[in-house]
Amino acid sequence: QVLVHPRVEGTYGIAVMHADFNDRIVVARNGSPVILGIGEKEMLVASDVAALIAHTRQVVTLDDGEMATLKADDFRTYTVAGASTTSTPETVEWEAASYDMGGHDTYMHKEISEQPDAVDRVLRGRIDDRFSTVHLGGLNLDPREARTIRRIKILGCGTSYHAGLIGASLIEGMARIPADAEPASEFRYRNPVVDPDTLYIAVSQSGETYDVLAAVQELKRKGARVLGVVNVVGSAIAREADGGVYVHAGPEVCVVSTKCFTNTVVAFALLALHLGRIRDLSVTDGKRIIEGLRKLPAQIEEILKTEDEIKSIAAEYAGAQSMMFIGRVRGYPVALEASLKLKEISYIHAEAYPASELKHGPLALIEPALPTVAIVPDDDLLEKNRAALEEIKARSGRILAVAHQPQEKADHTIVVPKNEDELDPILMGIPLQLFAYHTALAMGRDIDKPRNLAKSVTVE
Ligand code: G6P
Repeated sequence: QVLVHPRVEGTYGIAVMHADFNDRIVVARNGSPVILGIGEKEMLVASDVAALIAHTRQVVTLDDGEMATLKADDFRTYTVAGASTTSTPETVEWEAASYDMGGHDTYMHKEISEQPDAVDRVLRGRIDDRFSTVHLGGLNLDPREARTIRRIKILGCGTSYHAGLIGASLIEGMARIPADAEPASEFRYRNPVVDPDTLYIAVSQSGETYDVLAAVQELKRKGARVLGVVNVVGSAIAREADGGVYVHAGPEVCVVSTKCFTNTVVAFALLALHLGRIRDLSVTDGKRIIEGLRKLPAQIEEILKTEDEIKSIAAEYAGAQSMMFIGRVRGYPVALEASLKLKEISYIHAEAYPASELKHGPLALIEPALPTVAIVPDDDLLEKNRAALEEIKARSGRILAVAHQPQEKADHTIVVPKNEDELDPILMGIPLQLFAYHTALAMGRDIDKPRNLAKSVTVE
């Protein structure tokens, strides 16, 4: 028996071999993922299920502080102190085929185009037409408890944080529970007040992002109730949470997140509807949202068909040094995510601002060389958004609008189909994924593996 653990400090997932014991690998986990693959007469170890799937679908995920010894035909798991633990292998549902590019040039393009199916999957089996609500089997939150929630705080990083921002507005709008989102990394370092009446929700595609996991662990230690909105089944955050909603986007390989972002927002719409229908959302509104949700896959399909047009627009903006993204209320997180996508893969500097904040500073930047991408939904704020476009045009700024109808002041408008006001942000983000993609492609970037970035950041 080898006990490396007490002498190793920090966050790690390690695998070691010893020359005198070359029939075995000893692995240990603290904070970073370690997954055992149980093959036929072979054992495998990896930090991500994606690496194992071509060899086996049977996996064991180690817990923090757990170790394992693997031999070709056997494995054993135990604690730091050497006490045996029980680990029953789980079957991974994902197909090995999900990991090839399926005729696309990049994983990003494949994953963008998978969105109609992915959204269909997150909805499947969850809609309850009889009561105009949804069933979320893994939530572990009975209606009585749900009624006692006074606030909701959503935590995530990167794209998942942006999905959380839209999630907070969906929850606040439908369930009328005050909700906000915060980067998990900031939250854990500011010694937050943990309130017993607040429901905390951790959002993560991988379920392994260290900053999110550490925030969840800190919350749990302080007695908070934490739900997970997670894509990878059985991941650390999913297991650490008291319950949650799986996003069912399927494996996402490209470093930057697209289909998982969309599915996460849809998962939040389901959660918002569920909480809303327990509280004050009417049957009529419940029905309206359900009808809207059902329309999403076909509407996404429609947006994807405009790819050629988006590609030619992207060609015009590809040379920009910098770009501004604006949106108002529901449109603001869409602007944030679209600007993140552009900077991640094209390396064009991009900023996102609430449209209403333009006049308080960033308007100084507007000139012909700084194009603006504006989110302009046909909702109660349409006129306000149009006024912002006028302000920009008056300073000779170029404008690309994403809207439900052509915008007179814009140089280009990408027109997207209209859904319910609440669900429009889901659709308005999609053409901007393609916009970022084609801008980066025109600039010759390595889209699936942008410089300096990793798919999951499992260290501090
Ligand atoms: C990394 C990735 C981002 C991702 C973030 C959160 O920074 O590069 O694309 O949004 O982690 O990842 P998660 O798996 O927690 O959603």
